Amino acid sequence: MSALSKVLQGPALLPIIQAETPAEAVAIASAMYQGGISSVEVVLRTAKALDCISAIRAKLPNLLVGAGTILSEADAQAAKNAGSQFLVSPASTPKLLQAMLDTDLPLAPGVSTPSEIAMAVEMGITEVKFFPANLSGGTPMLKALSSIFQQVRFCPTGGISQQNLAEYLALKNVFVVGGSWVSPAKAVAEQDWALITELSRQATALALHLKQ
Ligand code: 3PG
Repeated sequence: MSALSKVLQGPALLPIIQAETPAEAVAIASAMYQGGISSVEVVLRTAKALDCISAIRAKLPNLLVGAGTILSEADAQAAKNAGSQFLVSPASTPKLLQAMLDTDLPLAPGVSTPSEIAMAVEMGITEVKFFPANLSGGTPMLKALSSIFQQVRFCPTGGISQQNLAEYLALKNVFVVGGSWVSPAKAVAEQDWALITELSRQATALALHLKQ
């Protein structure tokens, strides 16, 4: 299994795509790609999420596409079968971690406490999603964790915006930052792809400036 940080390309950003149809997912992903994004996480929170992953893989071969909101062994296998190139979960249990490891895909399981991080490390996982980042202590918590878990690197997600993005990118133990702020639900509903491209471009500029 490769580390997620090794397969991610481009700016240190992992925007979330929540789409109702494959066409909508491709339009969002395409708008993000035009704004400089290289990797996206399609969340398994809609009926057609797996088809959305397959469609983005087919139409945008230069984007790295992962599945998010993995909550079970079935989710992990289905995401892999749909063409997902990595897996992200919001939570960690021994069973869920093992199911994700069994796919042999790069992964970032969700943690928000020292005990969850220790459990992931015990299973050989040193790249994790810090979720929900802002509500779980934000950058002060990540700084506190850095001295204890020196080998662990985080993908903070949850409450990130263009306003606080720089604080997270500046931390050495942050390898990528995730979130939905570049594709607001309103922009998706109104098919305002230009806005998604512009928000992606702003985030990309900051990420390339702070983390290259
Ligand atoms: C996730 O799935 O990681 C979260 O929904 C992202 O949180 P955000 O919408 O606050 O960015």
